[in-house]
Amino acid sequence: MITVEENKSLKELNTFGMDVSARYFIEYDDPDDLEEVMAMVRRQQWFCIGSGSNLLFKEDYPGYLLHSKISTITPVDKGDCVMVTLGSGLEMDKVIEWAVANNLWGIEKLSAIPGQVGAAAVQNIGAYGVEIKDVIYKVQAYDTVKKQFVTFHGEDCRYGYRTSLFKEPYNGSYIVTAVTIRLSKTPQPRLEYGQLRALAESGRVLTLQEIRNEVIRIRSEKLPDPKKVGSAGSFFKNPVVLLEKFEEIREKVSAEICNIEVPHYRVDEEHVKIPAAWLIEQCGFKGRVMGNAQVWLLQPLIIVNATGKATPQEIINLQREITAEVLRRFGIKLEREVEYV
Ligand code: EPU
Repeated sequence: MITVEENKSLKELNTFGMDVSARYFIEYDDPDDLEEVMAMVRRQQWFCIGSGSNLLFKEDYPGYLLHSKISTITPVDKGDCVMVTLGSGLEMDKVIEWAVANNLWGIEKLSAIPGQVGAAAVQNIGAYGVEIKDVIYKVQAYDTVKKQFVTFHGEDCRYGYRTSLFKEPYNGSYIVTAVTIRLSKTPQPRLEYGQLRALAESGRVLTLQEIRNEVIRIRSEKLPDPKKVGSAGSFFKNPVVLLEKFEEIREKVSAEICNIEVPHYRVDEEHVKIPAAWLIEQCGFKGRVMGNAQVWLLQPLIIVNATGKATPQEIINLQREITAEVLRRFGIKLEREVEYV
């Protein structure tokens, strides 16, 4: 079924809580609706939103906002594993809850990440050493240019850190309708990553539910609850830099402040990833307030709508200050993870 609303308020449809609207807001719950939906849109501006949890509306949206409500879950038993085809409109965390209740492993560490399945596959969500691409078998989409359905195998989606072919400009013409993931019946409790390591060190064998609970607990301790404080999660990506660049930063930092180690993670032979949160913190932005926008005190990678009244421009101003200062101080140009619409 297709529903169309005009001049729709988006305040409840973006986790930043921006008080903006869309000229047209179209919801559909069946992939086959898309032909008709695109006929309505014709050649005008359109954009797909999921839960609105990774974007910032800069102003009222003048075109058609499309929202999937396709919410089928179709599991197929394959012996060791289960192939589950998920409608793009399902909430990712509901899927994880379902997987855990059915004792299926693979996505538990993505617990409590806001967003829908379609968006998760477009931007390759990740946490605690797991990315959704690790379990994606195939993605089904509607090609709005060729007006036909297409299927991509996981390895053809050009997945990278928070990116995929669906984010490339030309390929912005695809609308993801379903994602098939491979979940394991055999326990795979890999807990080597960061804060989860403490669990592994306890030596106890954890259940799937316990791992999910722990991830939810860790996240709730340091990330703002979008129901209470508006944000879009990590605002910036963690920059990946050449080893030489990293050494330069390391020297500069040790010359300026003694006994400070620059945190980093080896990506490959030539590159390291430096936590953006650390760079931002070093620039003195932790907790920084600018108008109604603020850098989250517990995790400076996140910009929040502190008062609930922030305008898009206030968020953008704070983002620009951070980007400029990190560039000035470390010579690193932070890339946004949050998409501006
Ligand atoms: N750090 C600081 N100061 C702080 C907080 C963190 O210096 O106040 C440094 C620490 O060195 C820490 C490092 O940042 O070791 C990494 O922090 P954390 O483990 O919290 O993860 P992150 O790199 O900040 C990424 C994802 C998150 C995901 C977590 C957990 C990105 C942009 N963000 O954050 O994803 O939940 O890892 O795996 O990759 C999101 O994408 O919206 C998101 C929340």
